[in-house]
Amino acid sequence: MKALDLFRYPLWLADLLAGGKSFKNNGIIGSEWLNQRGLHVKRMAFAERMADLRRARLNRFLDAEDREFFATNGYVLKHNALPTLTFKRLLEELETTTFRAWEMKQGGTVTRFTPLPPKVLAGLPALSDAVNLPAFQGGLRYCASVDGDPIVFMHTVLTDPADDKRDPQTFFHSDTFQPTAKAWLFLKDVEPEDGPFNYVPGSHRLTRARRDWEFRQSLSAAKHKNGHHAAGSFRITEADLEEMGLPAPIAMNVPANTLVVADTHGFHARGRSSRPALRLGLYGSLRKSAFMPFSPPDPLLLPGLRGRQAEFYVALQSMSAKMKGKKPALIDVGELKVTAPAVR
Ligand SMILES: [Fe+2]
Repeated sequence: MKALDLFRYPLWLADLLAGGKSFKNNGIIGSEWLNQRGLHVKRMAFAERMADLRRARLNRFLDAEDREFFATNGYVLKHNALPTLTFKRLLEELETTTFRAWEMKQGGTVTRFTPLPPKVLAGLPALSDAVNLPAFQGGLRYCASVDGDPIVFMHTVLTDPADDKRDPQTFFHSDTFQPTAKAWLFLKDVEPEDGPFNYVPGSHRLTRARRDWEFRQSLSAAKHKNGHHAAGSFRITEADLEEMGLPAPIAMNVPANTLVVADTHGFHARGRSSRPALRLGLYGSLRKSAFMPFSPPDPLLLPGLRGRQAEFYVALQSMSAKMKGKKPALIDVGELKVTAPAVR
């Protein structure tokens, strides 16, 4: 142990208790000695127990049939999520409006993030209905097991298979050690060639086999050569998934106007596209409260703050990059249509 580590321990401990996940940046979470004694797997089991307690009080957010499907599979899928007329109007609004957007490049994939705070939604009633769709907002809250304000973007994913740098999201992985939710309301048909979202049904639960696999990963994750794995988003091979007794992944080749909400603590991957593709969807994400037995009031739901997480996120990203003198991961690309070609 280095002398400097003594000063870092209180920060590492606070991060551990707040739901931190990085093995490489946190000497407690990444400690081989502590993980040999079960720190990581016990933390996972406790987070799962607490999430189950919180979720049991959030039944109002999702109907019984979807809750039952989620309990077994780890995701919810709803076709024709928006009424047909609202969906048609939403496409018209997107076709005739430009939005301030930010782009990120990972491998050969450019993802455009368009924040949709209340001031952007004013005057766009169909888009506003989509953002506030009960199955979208409620599905995220139920699957994440927390009544909080999700971060919401319009997501444009532009892939070019000619750019052969592999997108890190195309490897099967779990986002973090605790239940966490992501949702997509797909606005265009997703064909198998477009690289659809893949999810391994039932992989959201801590079975004996998952626990053993997690235990093995936790011993060496801090020094793993894959930075995402070392940061606590464990990558997994298809052979390991099979060995865990999990079923084959489901590829979400779905028609437009389908809503998918998934617990991305379960194993998932972005499919690899075999042709230049543009996927367009309303995207939401929610994660909080790893170890709380109840869902605490979320100040971000207060009027004036509600619906603005994406706006705050891009502002914070840019401020933090400026302070560190680094190029931000999200680049401001100005005002454009959500279906415009990639700028980056
Ligand atoms: Fe992920």
